[in-house]
Amino acid sequence: MILRSVLLWLSRQRWLGHWIETSRASQKLIRRFIAGRTLEEGLGVCRRLKAESTLATLDILGENVTSAAEARKSAEAYQEALRTMAAAELAATVSIKLTQFGLDVSEADCHENVMALAALAASLGTRVEIDMESSGYVDRTLSMVRSTHRRHGNVRAVIQAYLFRSADDIAGLCRDRIPVRLCKGAYLEPPEVAFPNKGDVDRNYLELARRLVEDGVDPAFATHDERMLRPILESAGRHKLPKDAFEIQMLYGIRRDIQRRLIAGGYRLRLYVPYGVAWYPYLMRRLGERPANLKFLLRSLLRA
Ligand code: FDA
Repeated sequence: MILRSVLLWLSRQRWLGHWIETSRASQKLIRRFIAGRTLEEGLGVCRRLKAESTLATLDILGENVTSAAEARKSAEAYQEALRTMAAAELAATVSIKLTQFGLDVSEADCHENVMALAALAASLGTRVEIDMESSGYVDRTLSMVRSTHRRHGNVRAVIQAYLFRSADDIAGLCRDRIPVRLCKGAYLEPPEVAFPNKGDVDRNYLELARRLVEDGVDPAFATHDERMLRPILESAGRHKLPKDAFEIQMLYGIRRDIQRRLIAGGYRLRLYVPYGVAWYPYLMRRLGERPANLKFLLRSLLRA
């Protein structure tokens, strides 16, 4: 628990991130969890996944930009990714972070950036998934989700099971017929807003998943935890939810054994495929989820 907190704290240290991202060890480090540095490498992974009957959601790494120009650049990079994917007939969605689209700089510019991307995605027949960041962003993120849904109807929200508020948020999103991706939550949160114990997070995840199976629209269950997946698949079966009416989402590079089993069972599986150069905070969150990965990180750094 302490190690996880330290890793999540380190994920917010920009100076360290810049040093690690530009170090010689980076090539080896990123290979396990990140599709590559360029759009071409990201698309290469999506192509390979398509051949294995697996869907993708493409994430261009980056968050907490500090200028309107950076935000616009991120939005344009996503537009280019959408156009290139459509030309390559890859039916992937995109996953974005609002702080990468300028939420901390100007809410109005962020809104404009998101609407432009959602409009393009709609014209190409795909969807924008809006990742959920730390708890201070939840209200503004859900508000952006709702306005995108009203205008373009092609957005998916993300709800984190570790937050106390999530049951109410899921009820509201189900009422508004907005698709939800349910995850456990990856940020360092205070005990005033989030369950500090993993057992409680897991229990809440299953409870929220039950609601999505019963009332959700095209729900996505994002987890690598078999103790979550088994009851969800059973419950979907009991409720006669067709296998193409929901999806399981996992992160690129994690639990390929489960991924193969899901595909073999005929389930819809979508992998979150991150690419780009600003990979440090993403990687640190993955280490925070499984500190055993730290050994891998240290070995790579020592070898470089
Ligand atoms: P848990 O952490 O309990 O892990 C269960 C098992 O999965 C572990 O025992 C291990 O085998 C494996 N595992 C999990 N993480 C691993 C890792 N990093 N390396 C190796 N093995 C690992 N969070 C958020 O706050 N906002 C968001 O928008 C998203 N979006 C998102 C999209 C998708 C597609 C996924 C899969 C996850 C997210 N997350 C997220 C992250 C999520 O909140 C959570 O931190 C991770 O998924 C880990 O939780 P699990 O449900 O896998 O369970």
